[in-house]
Amino acid sequence: MSRVKVLDAGGDALPMFQHQGQNYPNYPQTDSIVNIHKVPIRDDDIFICGFPKSGTHWVWEASRMLLAGRLMDDTVEKGVGMMEYAPHDAIQAMSSPRLLNTHFKLSLLPPDIVKKRCKIVYLLRNPKDVAVSYYNFILKLPNYNYRGKWENFMKYHVLGKFSYGSWFDFVLDWEEEKLKHPELPVLTLHYEDMKENNLRELRKLDSFLGTDRSEGFLSALYEHTSFTVMEKRKAPTTPIQGALPGVYRKGTVGDWKNWFKPEQNEWFDKYYTDRMEGSDLNIRFTLPRRATMGAST
Ligand code: A3P
Repeated sequence: MSRVKVLDAGGDALPMFQHQGQNYPNYPQTDSIVNIHKVPIRDDDIFICGFPKSGTHWVWEASRMLLAGRLMDDTVEKGVGMMEYAPHDAIQAMSSPRLLNTHFKLSLLPPDIVKKRCKIVYLLRNPKDVAVSYYNFILKLPNYNYRGKWENFMKYHVLGKFSYGSWFDFVLDWEEEKLKHPELPVLTLHYEDMKENNLRELRKLDSFLGTDRSEGFLSALYEHTSFTVMEKRKAPTTPIQGALPGVYRKGTVGDWKNWFKPEQNEWFDKYYTDRMEGSDLNIRFTLPRRATMGAST
């Protein structure tokens, strides 16, 4: 394991932490990455898992309020329960049921998650918007000083050279694990479905978590976790209280169209077809215009 500088296609460097052949964010403390598989798991732990930029903050926010049964106005962010980031003694000290989150593949997490059949909310988002979101996020990270150009970032990101590797490896690994463990309670949520009709998706989340909140509560939660409300509420303060700069950026489906040049899009589509051959995952890259009506903004 070591601190490394990973170059994009134009030679601009991104600082990362490398462990067992995989790149991770360059956190000041890396014990939580190295020891993630050792976190003692409780029967009632709940996990939110997804590739970075798939809407983890959004779903974490909705889930914690469903579990608490009240709307919250604080600036606490998901970092408090992020298994590869939060100190593990702090995770140990959390009261049950713990709401934990991670961008790790299931096969690298503590095996007790599977053995104890913990609930997992698994998030998916189309990889073009993920790449755009990730690029813009990294540009804003103060300790990265990354000034690389989009055209030098995109392909390397898709090929998995940066933090957490490739979206394709991640989602294909998760699909395989889900098939291998049909007994695992997993709720799969798509960012695009949430944008299309988040009240519908919140009902699914409520039922999965067994929180059984009223329709009135779910409507209020829908408003309270909308992009505009969350963006305002989560003003950046410290990494663990308040959002990192750039987390609440646009919150839309299809922003990739403003970034992918025709030749990049062509390259991506071919790569996608090759990598996803044999997978029955249905990923939507756009929403029909009228479908976003009533979605949280
Ligand atoms: P964009 O950069 O495309 O705007 P994660 O939480 O996994 O890091 O994902 C961050 C992405 O989710 C960002 O996407 C962010 O704007 C979006 N997001 C965060 N909260 C949201 C919300 N309440 N509604 C819609 N999108 C949200």
